[in-house]
Amino acid sequence: MKRMLSGIKPTGQLTLGNYIGALRNFVRYQDDYELYVFIANLHCVTVYQDPKDLRKNLKDAIALYLACGLDPERCTIFLQSDVLPHAQLGFLMTCQSYMGELNRMTQFKEKTANKEESITAGLYVYPSLMAADILLYDADYVPVGDDQKQHVELARDLAQRFNNRYGETFVLPEPVIQKVGARIMSLSDPSKKMSKSDETNKGCIYLLDDINLAKKKIMSAVTDMVGCVNYNKELQPGISNLLEIMSSLSGEPIEHIVERYQGKGYGEFKKEVAEVVGAELQKIQDRYNEIVRSDLLERTLREGAEKAGRIAYKKLKKVQKRMGIDIF
Ligand code: AMP
Ligand code: TRP
Repeated sequence: MKRMLSGIKPTGQLTLGNYIGALRNFVRYQDDYELYVFIANLHCVTVYQDPKDLRKNLKDAIALYLACGLDPERCTIFLQSDVLPHAQLGFLMTCQSYMGELNRMTQFKEKTANKEESITAGLYVYPSLMAADILLYDADYVPVGDDQKQHVELARDLAQRFNNRYGETFVLPEPVIQKVGARIMSLSDPSKKMSKSDETNKGCIYLLDDINLAKKKIMSAVTDMVGCVNYNKELQPGISNLLEIMSSLSGEPIEHIVERYQGKGYGEFKKEVAEVVGAELQKIQDRYNEIVRSDLLERTLREGAEKAGRIAYKKLKKVQKRMGIDIF
């Protein structure tokens, strides 16, 4: 079975966009791959995080991943900082990375564009740490959002460089980019992605939103003047987005939904979308509440760290031997 690994950096609350575009895919992957999922808490602190908020976001993210169907019996879930070889190999990978390469990373360039003085060195070497995360486990595939593709490619380059210098050590990872269509748009501005950085909050549904509030957000989603339910992203981006949300949650093909709503108004349509979204959130939240009240989080992370640690320490040992820094 091929190995797949991905990291989650929960610096905010998870959204319906994350759920449809990413979380649900992980749940499917756990049957087809030997899957490792970790919470990249070291990556989180490359930018200052309030400790109280960070702790809550980390906990919520793990609980939500479990609530959405990630199953510790079928995959390995752990906290990056619990497996010390991440930081150690991170440093060794920093020593394989050229400044020129790191300077070219788009995410770094974007994040540093305007605020020169508050940039940490951690943010700069973020991609080297990410390469270590991936290479420690000999991951074949790394599912990521578009914005992380360049980082996975750097991991591949570093692996190749290391193998050339020191002999075959690392598997070259391949990024897996989420399918198109998995792009849920903002409810208040369907030309933008639904995102946790939404200032107004109206366009974004959070997985832990109050159910009635979430339904209200759907009911007040921006539509258009056409007046009939059609799937046409250019002319009716708002309605098309609601169709995508509904179809991906209910499994009913978009054409069927469109057919059912011929001759009917937007109000009625939105009501059904709101019901479908409400029911899905309710299911997730019920499970979430059960999980946070149990010891499942703690147990999952403890067992996950043990299992991941066994692989990671072995790999680190091999790397250090190859490099000549381990002498016995
Ligand atoms: P982010 O929350 O931007 O760090 O993204 C985490 C994961 O969720 C990535 O794989 C994204 O591609 C996915 N994702 C985030 N927002 C959306 C969205 N509005 N629609 C679909 N997928 C999304
Ligand atoms: N940088 C990724 C993000 O922002 C999170 C991440 C850290 C990651 N290490 C990883 C993803 C290793 C895949 C593999 O989402």
